[in-house]
Parts: sequence; C-alpha cells; structure tokens
Amino acid sequence: MDHQVVVKPSGHAFSVAADESILAAALRQGLNLPYGCRDGVCGTCRGRILSGEVAHGNASTAVLGEADRLAGFALLCCATARTDLCIETREVSSLGDVPIRTLPARVHRLLRAAADVMIVELRLPSSERLQFLAGQYVDILLKDGKRRSFSLANAPHDDSLLQLHVRRIAGGQFTEHVFSSMRERDLLRLRGPMGSFFLRDDSTKPALLVAGGTGFAPIKAIVEHALAQRSTRPMDIYWGARQQADLYLLQLAQQWAAQHRWIRFVPVLSDSPPADGWHGRTGLVHVAAMHDHPDLSRHQAYVCGAPAMVAAARRDFLDHCRLPADEFFADSFDYAPDTQQAIATGTLSEMKVPPHD
Ligand code: FES
Repeated sequence: MDHQVVVKPSGHAFSVAADESILAAALRQGLNLPYGCRDGVCGTCRGRILSGEVAHGNASTAVLGEADRLAGFALLCCATARTDLCIETREVSSLGDVPIRTLPARVHRLLRAAADVMIVELRLPSSERLQFLAGQYVDILLKDGKRRSFSLANAPHDDSLLQLHVRRIAGGQFTEHVFSSMRERDLLRLRGPMGSFFLRDDSTKPALLVAGGTGFAPIKAIVEHALAQRSTRPMDIYWGARQQADLYLLQLAQQWAAQHRWIRFVPVLSDSPPADGWHGRTGLVHVAAMHDHPDLSRHQAYVCGAPAMVAAARRDFLDHCRLPADEFFADSFDYAPDTQQAIATGTLSEMKVPPHD
C-alpha cells in the first residue's frame, strides 16, 4: 500500500510504495532530495521524521546511531514508510546544493546511435551515486591531465547509469578513442556535476528548448526530469541537425510529443539531400524557433549546441523576440576548427569548452 509523504519546509508531497525507500520515491517523482551513495554509507540523505513511522532498513548504526533514531532521524535512502509521513529535509534546487566530486566510472555500454554519435553509458561503483541537476555536465579526466566535458543525458532520478552522447570529431583525442578503442568495462575518472545549465523548475513559464546535434543530451535530461515531476509546463523542443540520420533519438522525441499535450517537438534539418525526402522544417534551428515564437517575453529559453548557434540564439531571442536576458540559459560546445559550416548551422556539438582549464 502506498503512503503519502509531505516534505517540510517546502510543503512538497509525494507517494511512496511499501517496498520503496523514501529517497527513491522522491527522486522517481522528480523531487531532488540530497544524497550521495544511496546505500546507507555516506549519511548525506539524513532527514528527520516529524510524524509517522518508518522502518530503517539496512541503515548502519555507524552512520545512524541509536540516539539519532530516537531523535527521529532516518537515512532516507534506506528508510521505508510504515504510515503516512511528514519529514524534514532540504531540497536540492540550486548549484550551491550540489557537491562536485571526482569518481571512478566503468563503461557499461557503448551504443552506436548514428554514424558519428556514440551513446556511452557509465556505471559508478555500487556504493556511489552522483547527484546533479537536469542539464548539468561532467568532465572526463584524461590520463594526460586534460579533460573533456559532456552533458549528462539522463535525468537525476534515473541515475543507475550516467549517459553521455559523444559525437566523433576527426582528430579529437577522446572522441576518436571512444569510437575506435574504448571497450565496455573500461575504467574512467570523472568530475562533476558542473555547469549552470539546468532546468529552473521553480518557474512555470513555457520553456523553449533548442538543441543542435548532441546538444540534445541535456535537453533530454531536462524533459525526462519534467516528466518524472509530472509537470505540465509547456515545452517546445527544437532539434537541429544536418540530415535526418543525425537526429539519433528522433523517435524518442516524437514519442514525448505524442504522449504529452504540453510537449511540442520540431526537428529542423539544415542540409538534407533531396533523396532523403524530408518534408519537415529546414534551415537554422534557432530561426525556426523564432519563426514560431515571435514573442518570447513570457518564456524561458534553454539552448545547447555549438558556440555560434548559442550566440546567435541569444542575440536574436533578446533583440527580436523580447526574451528577458535573465531567462536565457545556454550551454555551448567546443568544436574542430575545420567545421565552420556545421557550426553555422548549429549542428556540430561535441566537447564542451572545459570551463576550469
Ligand atoms: S547514506 Fe548515502 S545517500 Fe543515504
């Protein structure tokens, strides 16, 4: 039987199944409670039970002693609800709430999503989880001290594997490695989460989400987070690529739009050969978004892709569509120097510029 949980001081509420930890239920429903290991080890998820009764599960007495339990504390990653509950815990909603960590990760699976796009799934050690906000990225730390940054394409609640979308860049040290010699079970080191590109879910404004190429990765995380929250906030997604084959998760995005009235999805191709028989939108992706949204004065815009596309979107959304400057959120990527055309169309989006290098 499900129980209801009310969180103080926010007043947010969610339901928890009998065999489900309170933390797992909160994350599943898009509520970002703090956690580290999700395994009863780190103590980060500690909260106070203000009313109701819990079972403490396998919370170790080293982390949650008898005195803590008597005082009403619980490890929310281990505790299950025996009754309806009122609990006290903070919620993670801003960058300051999310610790940046360095962790080992194993390559779990490599999925070739398109000729030059690899979906890389990473698994953290069993006693570790990475807390992040939907849209943030991680740095992959290379042996020579360099780093390469990739957005997390999974939503925070779906964190058993971390998902990266990697486009092959000719001559790119890391991306060439991903496509030629990386193997499942390889060990990597990552640092994160990073970046201020994340869904501001305290806003109810319609969101315009614009992605170029693998800039779709953080947009996917944002949409999946909104779905977990059961949000009905309008989201219009524009995904630009050169050719249809570059829209490597086209069916997924189409499915979101088919299943949820509040999601619209518009794919835009910049360089589709006639033989492909493309009947959809063509041209620059941010221009297509502007065409459909001449007035953005009551919107938020989230834009992810190559630097030129992001810069053009910011300039044009603010200058021509009256988007308030503080409602524009963006993440941009580094690029190979011989690909100016792809950049101009917003379709090349690979490794982000590591902001701390
Ligand atoms: S003890 Fe680490 S998340 Fe619960």
